[in-house]
Amino acid sequence: MPDEKPRILTGDTPTGNLHLGHWVGSLENRVKLQDAYDCYFLIANMHAFTTRADKPAEIRASTIEIVKDWIACGIDPERSTFVLQTEIPAIAELTWYLAMLLPFNRVMRNPTLKTELETKGLGDNYSFGFPMYTVGQCADILIFRPELVPVGEDQVAHIEPCREVARRFDQMYCGVDPQTEDADYVKAGGLFPIPDAKIGRIARLIGTDGVNKMSKSLNNAIYLTDTFKQIKKKMGGLYTGRSAMDEPGDINNSLFQYVRAFIDDESRVKELETKYAAGDNIGDGHIKVEVAEAIDKLLAPMRERRAPYEGADGDDKILALLREHTAKANAVAEETLYEAKKAMGLDFGRRTIAVV
Ligand code: TRP
Repeated sequence: MPDEKPRILTGDTPTGNLHLGHWVGSLENRVKLQDAYDCYFLIANMHAFTTRADKPAEIRASTIEIVKDWIACGIDPERSTFVLQTEIPAIAELTWYLAMLLPFNRVMRNPTLKTELETKGLGDNYSFGFPMYTVGQCADILIFRPELVPVGEDQVAHIEPCREVARRFDQMYCGVDPQTEDADYVKAGGLFPIPDAKIGRIARLIGTDGVNKMSKSLNNAIYLTDTFKQIKKKMGGLYTGRSAMDEPGDINNSLFQYVRAFIDDESRVKELETKYAAGDNIGDGHIKVEVAEAIDKLLAPMRERRAPYEGADGDDKILALLREHTAKANAVAEETLYEAKKAMGLDFGRRTIAVV
C-alpha cells in the first residue's frame, strides 16, 4: 500500500526550464526515492507571484512546463502526486497559523531570502508577500507531514525554520515535551514530524561560465531540453584557464566537476584524471566533447518521456493530470489542516474540497 510508506514533500517555483544543476541537486534524488516513499511534488506557483505578480501568463506557462520537465526526468504520475499550490487552500490557511509561531526577525534573517533580495535586485521595494513565502514554505512541507524533504543546497535555510515551527506547534498545541528527540515528535503525540532535508549528490554544480553556480539568471545553464548541439556548444565554452595539451591540468577545475558528475564509467574518470593531471597529451576540447556525449546520454530518455506532451494537446494533458492529482493532494492536506485546527481548539466542523 503506497500510503503506508513515509512521505516526501519537495518542489520548485515555476520560473522556467529546469537545468542540470536541478538534476544533480535534487531531481535525481526525487526520481530514485519514488519507490520507497509516498512522494508529493509541489509546483510553487503561488510563490512565483511573490516576485512576478505582473506576469501571470508566464507563470501559467512555467507551471505547465515544470510538470513536463518532471515527467521527462522520470517522475512517474502513476506513483507520485503533483501538488498545484494554488489549488490546495489548506496550505494558505496553515501559513497563517504558522506565521504566528515564527518571530518576524527570524524570518528576515533567512540567508536564502537575503541572497534572493540581492540577486533579484528587489531593494527595499519587495512586496509584503515576498518574505511571507518563507513561512508559506513551512506550510507547504508540513501540510503533507513528510519525513524527508529532498532539496538543493540553497533551500536548506528554508528547512530549518520549518523544523523549528513544527517543534513549536507540537509543543504548544499537542503537549509534546520540549526535551523530545526530533525523531520522536510524532510518537510523543505531535501532529507534525520534524522533517529532514536531503541534499543531492552535488550541492552546487558550476555553470558553463566555469565560475558561478549554474543558474538561469546567469545564463550559464545546460537545460534538460537542450539538444546535443547546444550541449556541445555550451560545454565548449567552459572556461578552465588551461592552454595546452601537455600542460598539467587541475583535476579540481570546473571541467572535472562535470567529468565526475556525468561520466558514469568510474575507470574512465580515473584515466582522464591521471592523464589530465600529468598533462599527458589530452586537450580540454576532447574532454568537453566526451562530457557533452555523457550529458546527451542522460538527457536522451528525458526527451523520450517528454515527447507525448509536446504536441498541440500536450498542455491539456498536463492540466488534466494536475486536476486529477489535486484531489489526492487536497485529501491529505485537508486532513492535516483539520488535525492542526483541532489541536488549536478550532474544530468547528469537517469540510470537503472538490476541484472539477
Ligand atoms: N522555494 C523553492 C524553490 O524556489 C520551492 C518550494 C516551495 C519548495 N515550497 C517548497 C521546496 C517546499 C521544497 C519544499 O525552489
